[in-house]
Amino acid sequence: MNFSESQEHLLIRETAHKFGQQEIVPGLRERDRDCIVTRDVLDKLGKSGLLGVSLPGKYSGSDTDYISLGIVCEELERADTSARVIMSVHSGLHCLTLLQWGSDEQKNRWLPLLAKGEKIGGFGLTEPNAGSDAVNIKTYAKKDGDSYILNGEKTWISLSDFADQFLVIAVTDPHATSRAHGMSAFIVERSMPGFKSQPIKGKLGVRAGNTGQLFFDNVRVPVENRIGEEGEGFKIAMSALDHGRYTVGSGAVGIITASLDACNAYVRSRSVGGEEIGKKQLVQQMIANMAAHRDIGRLLYYKVGWMKNNGLRHTRECSLAKWQNCNYAFQAANDAVEIHGAYGFCDEFPVERYFRNSRGAVIYEGTKEIHTLLQAEYELGYRKDKTIRKMLPKWPFNDDV
Ligand code: CAA
Repeated sequence: MNFSESQEHLLIRETAHKFGQQEIVPGLRERDRDCIVTRDVLDKLGKSGLLGVSLPGKYSGSDTDYISLGIVCEELERADTSARVIMSVHSGLHCLTLLQWGSDEQKNRWLPLLAKGEKIGGFGLTEPNAGSDAVNIKTYAKKDGDSYILNGEKTWISLSDFADQFLVIAVTDPHATSRAHGMSAFIVERSMPGFKSQPIKGKLGVRAGNTGQLFFDNVRVPVENRIGEEGEGFKIAMSALDHGRYTVGSGAVGIITASLDACNAYVRSRSVGGEEIGKKQLVQQMIANMAAHRDIGRLLYYKVGWMKNNGLRHTRECSLAKWQNCNYAFQAANDAVEIHGAYGFCDEFPVERYFRNSRGAVIYEGTKEIHTLLQAEYELGYRKDKTIRKMLPKWPFNDDV
């Protein structure tokens, strides 16, 4: 066991931290308040090289390990959740899933453009009537010669209006003996006729980020855009979530750190009865909890990153890190509001934004209820992970990755 971050990890943490503080934080209060979402952040992230983190150099990636992706997510979410969400969908759900399941031809075709940020990737699983119940999606892909014709809709899709291509899960065999075996995964490109997206308005949080719906109206998708074999779509979706949940769980630690940053400054500048409020024991209790949860949260996601590096199945550990870290982050943000008193209730201080943003992550990429059930099922022996036909490549990457 080695619990220290390598020089490379420290460097990437510093790079992502600087990026967040210099490129995301300025003007954020206004962008979040007025729900202003621009392509600007995507372009800057692309230029910074951060979109290629944890992808092999062979595909224009940074060749860094999978723990680095977690560190980038933590530092970006310390600045704002909207920035981490970009990493979650582009790097986690889209790129790592392509790296795991794509053919050599597909990886060569898409990964270099994605790693350089010349193309942005998204993910489409959830539908209006199938969120937690992912096995019951209705989007249908009917085989027609050398292509599939897609019809249906997806909702709660991050980067719905900015991504150039989406990893979309659709039913290909409605009569399969098990619904999970009747789905396939496709890369659907925005330029394909019949594709449309629209944003969702009025969100509680992540207001500087884009979330919306996707519509497929007889979208013709060539068979070369199918990822994996026909019938493997549900497994591909679930392994995408192993990557997405990792980024959400690591990002959540960034909310705790940001809450601590804000509270550290506030409790030292605010006095009651001539004493800094940081000296009050009930305030100290909240600070101590945040510090403990930041450190526990890091251990949980470092372990998942380490398992990814070693080519180990990590669905259980990833679910645990996502579940616990999102709960910790929500608690930290709630306590940060409490510590700020009435000032925590308005956007003069950033903690109200952390509170709103942290709420969403308790729901998306598996609600806390889904993760509670998963953990109980693993513990009781009702759920066991099987070998997957295609595993995420180990790190360091070798030539045939
Ligand atoms: N990797 C690969 N294969 C996997 C897998 C994984 N992580 N997890 C399961 N599988 C395989 C299983 O081995 C099984 O294969 P066989 O049938 O061949 O044995 C098959 O997939 C079915 O698995 P389960 O029996 O475990 O399926 P289930 O119905 O019990 O799953 C569930 C239930 C775990 C709750 C699942 O439905 C689930 O995770 N639901 C939550 C979905 C979710 O998080 N949605 C949020 C998406 S976020 C989004 O869409 C918006 C955005 O932009 C980010």
